[in-house]
Amino acid sequence: MNSIVILISGRGSNMQAMVEAGLPVAAVISNRADAAGLEYAAGRGIATAIIAHRDYATREAFDAALVRAIDGFRPDLVALAGFMRILTEDFVLRYQGRMLNIHPSLLPAFPGLDTHARALAAGVKLHGCSVHFVTAELDHGPIIIQAAVPVLPHDDEVKLAARVLAQEHRIYPQAARWFLDGNLVIESGVVRVKGDHPQQLYAP
Ligand code: GRF
Repeated sequence: MNSIVILISGRGSNMQAMVEAGLPVAAVISNRADAAGLEYAAGRGIATAIIAHRDYATREAFDAALVRAIDGFRPDLVALAGFMRILTEDFVLRYQGRMLNIHPSLLPAFPGLDTHARALAAGVKLHGCSVHFVTAELDHGPIIIQAAVPVLPHDDEVKLAARVLAQEHRIYPQAARWFLDGNLVIESGVVRVKGDHPQQLYAP
């Protein structure tokens, strides 16, 4: 049975969307004991673990502990879902090709934090979210699927974030499913899905 380990730091709504989509989630691991998503996962009978970054003197030591926790579940896929830690290169290399991330922008626009505020400030008319393979460069890596939403005249950060989040909950389970089914092919850094599945959504 193939499985996913999901790493979270907070609310965990993307993790919840994956669980509700019926994906085989073996465990949810958080770097924060107060991550709200842990309670949801435990309530669904999913194994949870807390690897608190504050307990480790270095990034390397934290990542090593994280590796031990993840590998204990022998997952096929590691899914970062609002996991707010920068990972070491060794960690990324270990899971390269089997670790995904969801980012709340249409990459390569707006990598990093505060994407919705930056999209509003830039005056873009389309915004959205991307699921991509994780590589050593933050919020880069081959893009699997993107969803676009309109930026409307009276939007603020909260409204725009909510519109994007609804689409995150659609595309992340889809990307994870494709991965587990062995349907993703990367050619020269470009991801293709076997069978004719659309890799974009537009949600007006
Ligand atoms: C999402 O917007 C995700 O794209 C970003 O962090 C947020 C996490 O939300 N990386 P949640 O914890 O999944 O609810």
